[in-house]
Amino acid sequence: MNGHRSALVWLTGLSGAGKSTIAQQLDGRLFAAGMHSYVLDGDNIRHGLNADLGFSAADRRENIRRIGQVAKLFVDAGFIVLTAFISPFREDRDAVRKIMKPDEFFEVQVKCSLEECQARDPKGLYKKAMKGEIAEFTGISSPYEPPLQPELILDTDALSVEPAVEKILKLLIAGKIIPPRHF
Ligand code: ADX
Repeated sequence: MNGHRSALVWLTGLSGAGKSTIAQQLDGRLFAAGMHSYVLDGDNIRHGLNADLGFSAADRRENIRRIGQVAKLFVDAGFIVLTAFISPFREDRDAVRKIMKPDEFFEVQVKCSLEECQARDPKGLYKKAMKGEIAEFTGISSPYEPPLQPELILDTDALSVEPAVEKILKLLIAGKIIPPRHF
């Protein structure tokens, strides 16, 4: 009915790697082409639905579990869902993959070196984490487990936002989620 299929594009990577920026730009491209898409990120999830959760391993797991369930509902409703969360633990991401149909889940690793993320430090959080003012900060005092077989890797040390978005659009076209003619 919408002229496209629904899917979940799961962006994972360090804080500052570019997940939200890429998701927002991609959302804009899909919207302009008349597609129904929606971004789930810290702004609309961690302040609301998941406001009771912190950054312990258990809370991150619950964060990702709930986001997976919400994303599944949106996918059932016909949306192309874009999620932008660190989602550092492989097992938690794999659990989301399991609740989705195999051809509607796209794990995208937004890969950026810790050095570059620290240099960007858009929220000044790495500086605080280095001083020990934030506990269990991903990359500093809490681990990040990269995907073993992501559908796509975006190396944002080298790649800017536009070409990163293009690569995801190509992935969705190849997966027959969106028709090529609009892009
Ligand atoms: S996740 O690990 O549970 O997937 P999520 O993506 O929701 O994390 O939130 C990460 C954002 O929360 C970071 O970009 C940063 O702004 C903020 N943050 C606050 N404390 C931490 C922390 N200890 N580790 C990582 N990010 C944190």
